Amino acid sequence: MSYHAWFQCTQCPDTRYALNEVIYHCRSCGGLLSVAHDMEALRHRSGSAWINLFDQRYMRNTYPYGSGVWGKKEMVCPEVADDNVVSMYEGGSNLFWAERLGRELGLPDLWVKQCGNSHTGSFKDLGMTVLVSMVNQMRADGLQIPAVACASTGDTSAALAAYCAAADIPAIVFLPKDKVSVAQLIQPIANGAITLSLRTDFDGCMRLVRQICDSEGIYLANSMNSLRIEGQKTVAVELVQQFDWQVPDWIIVPGGNLGNVSALGKGFLEMQAMGIIDKLPRIAVGQAANANPLYLSYRKNFEHFEPQRARATLASAIQIGDPVSRDRAIRTLRQFDGVVEQATEDELANASARGDRTGLFTCPHTGVALAVLIKLIERGDIRRDDTTVVISTAHGLKFPDIKVRYHQSDLADMGVVSRYPNQPVELDPDKDQVRSAICRALDDLART
Ligand SMILES: Cc1ncc(COP(=O)(O)O)c(C=O)c1O
Ligand SMILES: [Zn+2]
Repeated sequence: MSYHAWFQCTQCPDTRYALNEVIYHCRSCGGLLSVAHDMEALRHRSGSAWINLFDQRYMRNTYPYGSGVWGKKEMVCPEVADDNVVSMYEGGSNLFWAERLGRELGLPDLWVKQCGNSHTGSFKDLGMTVLVSMVNQMRADGLQIPAVACASTGDTSAALAAYCAAADIPAIVFLPKDKVSVAQLIQPIANGAITLSLRTDFDGCMRLVRQICDSEGIYLANSMNSLRIEGQKTVAVELVQQFDWQVPDWIIVPGGNLGNVSALGKGFLEMQAMGIIDKLPRIAVGQAANANPLYLSYRKNFEHFEPQRARATLASAIQIGDPVSRDRAIRTLRQFDGVVEQATEDELANASARGDRTGLFTCPHTGVALAVLIKLIERGDIRRDDTTVVISTAHGLKFPDIKVRYHQSDLADMGVVSRYPNQPVELDPDKDQVRSAICRALDDLART
């Protein structure tokens, strides 16, 4: 059986373009494109046969099929030859049973999908492997693509830089100055990307990269390029696989540009069409209250969508006021009986720290998702026996600056009162001093 996929306009579905065309919007109506698959071919194999195939490949050594993304190649991007795939064995991230946090919250079946346990430390690797592989193939086929570029809040640029470095393709990243962490900034620098630090915000970077890509024939790697969505949707397949192909009741995901929630939805819908699953989860999107255009639109039943100038948030990767994938996200939320909630700086920082106290090491965006989880439990939307998955989108080690300030109770300027601070105890190397400090600390712990 041969499998086939193409770009299809989201507004006029009869319009198709090949995946190796340099195109991001429909030429007739300007609408966003999405990748469509030959579903008839995919349905030719039964759901259980797909399950067997995916399980045989998962985290094994046959390149590139051991990758969590490329193990599902037929439903992701069958158009790339195996030899042109640029993979770092992305995916395969731990589905963490958050037993202790779940016990505290009265939710025994709580899980955290650790997408930050990945080559560049965020879920962006899932999508970037597909996009860079396609560019690699196009260049191998003789197409002139001088470079690949993206605007980024920090994680997309890290992923683009790493995959391009591996494939020896020039990468250009547009970053908003002083709005990404030091750890995020050093990633593209170390990988040799042309790194532009622009005195604007993410939305400003986005406008500029589109213009430059347009005029210079540079390939655009932002999520309006829906090849990335194809890779990112495998998070849905992989987490169902990790539940032995059972579908959870709820999934909570932080949202900024809103590509990830759209990808999640696409993954579930296609698994359903392929007979792999027979029900859908409910989806909740968490936004920072300082960058909440989707939340405000949700509160008005999605009748209007007002782009905004996003305000500063500790969840800097989702400080986006004019999300590119708003329409697909709204469609997804309608299909998945979705909800949108927001988290203040105080709520997200404390939820993140609370998660860390139970063995996680969360990024602030995961903090948003955890804060939303707590609200949905308190509201009774999520019930005690619901299987719930929080998507952790990046590794906490990318954001040490914020964690340090949190534990020093030094985030008052962001409106945060640290409820779980922890400080190193500085002592002389003296046994009695050390002993009494430990006793005091253990007493304090026993009291909490
Ligand atoms: C760590 C992290 N979490 C969440 C998001 C939000 O994903 P999306 O922009 O697809 O909504 C991003 C990227 O923007 C991110 O880097
Ligand atoms: Zn169109």
